[in-house]
Amino acid sequence: MTGKGLFITGTDTGVGKTFVTSLIVKALKEKGIDVGVMKPVETGCRIKNGILKPSDALFLKKIADIDDNLDIINPYRFKEPVTPSAAARKNNRQIKLSKIRDCYKKLASRHDFIVVEGAGGLLVPLNSKETIADLIKLLKLPVIIVAASRLGAINHTLLTVRCAKQLGIKIHGIIFNNITEQKKSSPRLKPSGTGLMNMEEVKRFTDAPIIGEIPFAKRHL
Ligand SMILES: Nc1ncnc2c1ncn2[C@@H]1O[C@H](COP(=O)(O)OP(=O)(O)OP(=O)(O)O)[C@@H](O)[C@H]1O
Ligand SMILES: [Mg+2]
Repeated sequence: MTGKGLFITGTDTGVGKTFVTSLIVKALKEKGIDVGVMKPVETGCRIKNGILKPSDALFLKKIADIDDNLDIINPYRFKEPVTPSAAARKNNRQIKLSKIRDCYKKLASRHDFIVVEGAGGLLVPLNSKETIADLIKLLKLPVIIVAASRLGAINHTLLTVRCAKQLGIKIHGIIFNNITEQKKSSPRLKPSGTGLMNMEEVKRFTDAPIIGEIPFAKRHL
């Protein structure tokens, strides 16, 4: 299977993967590209009327404005706000990468391009043997690494880059994302002080492409 999409991973949970995925989907749609989305595994889902609601998957489905079945976009969802392997175990289930690949294939046959959001970072366990990195390799997709632009970002980014390279995962680029408001306000498209420093330091230690910095968006949804 040849990948015709992007896998959005992060240096951590809560760094802005869904936010960045939604921006990429919107940008591609504006170019007239038919984009499908996938959030293969979502944990910490709320329950409404006895039904699990995967908020990332539902948000991305809405942004992409597609009518694919939610069970294909998001084949695995769990209530427990814990790592996928543990959430599945708690529910006597097992996450199968082959099932995710089959869903991905269905979506890929329907759309020009697929943007897949991971869960947490590269080494998040999906079952007792496999991680998000194994899924990325199975889907043969290049990754975008999202890092929260804050203290610690350099270390987390370089760890993620090194891991991806060791595993033979192609890095499309790195994005530094401001999930909190910068102290010194910066013009919208100029890198902030922290962003600039992160980018310069990371550049010194890796040849992985740095796409840039996303500013904190006050009203983004
Ligand atoms: N550039 C930004 N400006 C303003 N708010 C942002 C920005 N990026 C992310 N956020 C907000 O930060 C929070 C975390 O972002 P998001 O949900 O995209 O992270 P995530 O990496 O997808 O998390 P998870 O690991 O739970 O999937 C959300 O409330 C989101 O709206
Ligand atoms: Mg998310």
